[in-house]
Amino acid sequence: MGISNEYHFNWINDTIEPLKAEILTSLPDQPVVLGLSEQQANPFVQNLLSERGFQYQAIDRYAQTDDVLPIDLNDLSPLASLELADMACCFRASYFIEDKKAFLQQVSKVLKPGAYLCMDFLIGTSDLPTLGFYYGGDKITANYDPNNPSRFLTSFYDDRILENHPSEVAAFCKHARHWPWRTQWEYFQAFSKLFWRDRKRHAQLYPENLKQAMIVAFPEAQLFTLEDFEQHGFELVAFSSRYFYPLVRKFNLYSFVGFRKQS
Ligand SMILES: C[S@@+](CC[C@H](N)C(=O)[O-])C[C@H]1O[C@@H](n2cnc3c(N)ncnc32)[C@H](O)[C@@H]1O
Repeated sequence: MGISNEYHFNWINDTIEPLKAEILTSLPDQPVVLGLSEQQANPFVQNLLSERGFQYQAIDRYAQTDDVLPIDLNDLSPLASLELADMACCFRASYFIEDKKAFLQQVSKVLKPGAYLCMDFLIGTSDLPTLGFYYGGDKITANYDPNNPSRFLTSFYDDRILENHPSEVAAFCKHARHWPWRTQWEYFQAFSKLFWRDRKRHAQLYPENLKQAMIVAFPEAQLFTLEDFEQHGFELVAFSSRYFYPLVRKFNLYSFVGFRKQS
């Protein structure tokens, strides 16, 4: 699942560009940055902070080097002993979060007051125009370690997507109602028995009922809203949503969120 670095981080960098000066002014020299679910500093952090310099710590459940702490997004308690961070990023991995409230409580503890939390969220099952994360009836897993897979569980919805980006949401819903021929052909070949059920699943998906469809597709603990962050003391400073299919041929409506932890 997911999309290429180039499109993804160009979009995030463009979103943050108008705020760059303000963010840099508010950060200390050599800010401490936590990379959640990554093996090295992501292109967003590099773009934002490479001139300033920064201290960096990656955490990832499937750490590939000794520099990366082998920590699961769903248990950040080992980070409590580390120095508090000025920024945390979690890109293209929020779908592995099992319980949004536990995550927000834990990530809040490792951030200083005034720190930034930058994340993205995926709506849609990349290779199939449906909302729930499954293919052919099976929940999707990522096999970074085949003996210990991570499940795709968590998505996002907030009415502010519709308010801010109505055309992106409209294009996404239209795609779910009218699968492109290529998608139909590939899905029929792979899962012919489930084709008609899944083909019809979102035949009535329109922007005005996307919220309800997301509530049906995901349990509450696995459906983030902007309000969840606000209730945990985060102020929204950057927000953008993008329907990526025309660029990457994946059924993705991604949202980027930038929050500041209130003092
Ligand atoms: C699609 S990659 C994204 C990597 C990087 N954040 C980026 O945007 O380029 C997903 C990452 O999440 C990590 N991951 C998967 N499940 C995880 C979990 N439960 N806790 C922490 N990291 C996890 C994987 O090892 C992988 O590095």
